[in-house]
Amino acid sequence: MAKFTQDEIDKINSKLKTPEDTLRWAYSTFGDKIAKASSFGLEDSVVTDMIIKINPKARFFTLDTGRLNQETYDVMDEIGKKYNIKLEVIFPDTNEVQQMVRTHGLNLFYESVENRKLCCETRKVNPLNKILSTLDAWITGLRRDQNENRSKSAMVEIDTLHGGIIKINPIIDWTWDQVLDYVKKHKVPYNKLFDRGYTSIGCEPCTRAIKQGENLRAGRWWWENEKHKECGLHMDHSK
Ligand code: ADX
Ligand code: SF4
Repeated sequence: MAKFTQDEIDKINSKLKTPEDTLRWAYSTFGDKIAKASSFGLEDSVVTDMIIKINPKARFFTLDTGRLNQETYDVMDEIGKKYNIKLEVIFPDTNEVQQMVRTHGLNLFYESVENRKLCCETRKVNPLNKILSTLDAWITGLRRDQNENRSKSAMVEIDTLHGGIIKINPIIDWTWDQVLDYVKKHKVPYNKLFDRGYTSIGCEPCTRAIKQGENLRAGRWWWENEKHKECGLHMDHSK
């Protein structure tokens, strides 16, 4: 596995000007030991379209928590067919889910932040750790203006949460309007939940449409305080 120092990563970041430059660098560096993580929000649709134009054989995976919306499964199919992608669908460990549900119930996430985090850990974080332990790098659809924590992310970073593998965030400095423009211009298949006001896509019981004037991520775990709103997939830059 190619190891990088922070100095090397800083130099790489200063040279890479566009998402496409970054993706080309990523595929030539990591070959088939890199995969795109997709939750099928609009950002993921955009990055998928860019990737396929650069590397038609690229790998894609999704964490199927078992609690996703039908619209998310629909767009998985649509994108898979359009781009000829064999999506790697990663499921949580059955025993872990059974244990959690038997102890805390099916709708545990509404009861406390602790329970919600346990559910995210069981259904998303542990499955992500499992697949990332087989990779040298992964690609996300993160954007800096999504929240305070993500504002500190770089286009290419060392993922200290996942054993120091490389994390590539090609559209980290894009605005929401750039995402919308790209989807329109390139006729990219997108999650139809968006047409109903869902500007961030997560699990069905934990995501709602946003109201006018609300933050784009306000519909995620809407009953919780703003500062809890990460599920543990991404590094905590405050630490
Ligand atoms: S989350 O941490 O709050 O759930 P968010 O929904 O904003 O993350 O998505 C940011 C990026 O994390 C996505 O572009 C994708 O790369 C990755 N991601 C989030 N959820 C999943 C998932 N279920 N499967 C695969 N990747 C995901
Ligand atoms: Fe569980 Fe909700 Fe987290 Fe999905 S978003 S894993 S349902 S707590």
